[in-house]
Amino acid sequence: MLLQRRSPRTLSPVQENHFSEEVAAGYDDGGPMFSAETIGPTIDLLAELAGDGAALELGIGTGRVAVPLAARGVRVHGIDLSEAMVARLRAKPGAEEIGVTIGDFATTRVDGTFRLAYLVFNTVMNLTTQDAQVACFENVARHLERVGCFVVEVMVPDLRRLPPGERYVPFDVSETHVGIDEYDVANQGLISHHYTNRLCSVPFRYVWPAELDLMARIAGLTLRERWADWNRSPFTSESRKHVSVWERPG
Ligand SMILES: C[S@@+](CC[C@H](N)C(=O)[O-])C[C@H]1O[C@@H](n2cnc3c(N)ncnc32)[C@H](O)[C@@H]1O
Repeated sequence: MLLQRRSPRTLSPVQENHFSEEVAAGYDDGGPMFSAETIGPTIDLLAELAGDGAALELGIGTGRVAVPLAARGVRVHGIDLSEAMVARLRAKPGAEEIGVTIGDFATTRVDGTFRLAYLVFNTVMNLTTQDAQVACFENVARHLERVGCFVVEVMVPDLRRLPPGERYVPFDVSETHVGIDEYDVANQGLISHHYTNRLCSVPFRYVWPAELDLMARIAGLTLRERWADWNRSPFTSESRKHVSVWERPG
């Protein structure tokens, strides 16, 4: 696998790496996002959008998506901050076809242009300021071919489940994992607390679909599609997440 490294000067001071060696070691352990029911339609849609062009994954991680997409014949390049996550990707069969640049995906430039850029699994929320999220859209637009598009998969902020005066929304309670989102509404902030055999807390900035559309517009992109999932189900008022596609107008 090709591994490029960008100067640390490209890292914004707010973009801390929360994907440590310990997180990376357990990342591929399973869960619904790793199931064939999720990965299959994800790869179908991304491969269709990439066509015969190349794809850029922001936050490529361990290659949950990039490896099967590359196996489908799409040329994939990734950007990620975490050497530990990328080391897991590098160990997988097929990863030698995938180039990776270590850096902040809001600002890092890579060589070439792409038919498709994608940012999945809520990773846009890892950018914890509005400025960084806007910069990310602008960075993507710089990398897209004229007919290219940008796909984001992200949750719809769960504020309808937050009674006045409360900050915590449990999103997963099982014998092996308790997940609780802590909202900071004034600052559009979110900390996801994961209790397994220890506590792991990751800060996010939640972001509304309409705000993402505005960020896309700032970057010269316009909404082409918004679905509720990778199976292209209609996006409705009840949707808990969305898969959105932006492209250049006209
Ligand atoms: C939830 S994981 C998603 C990994 C992969 N896209 C997937 O779907 O399984 C988020 C990944 O994004 C990376 N990441 C988070 N913020 C980043 C940033 N600002 N720049 C580059 N990588 C970042 C993390 O290191 C991690 O590998």
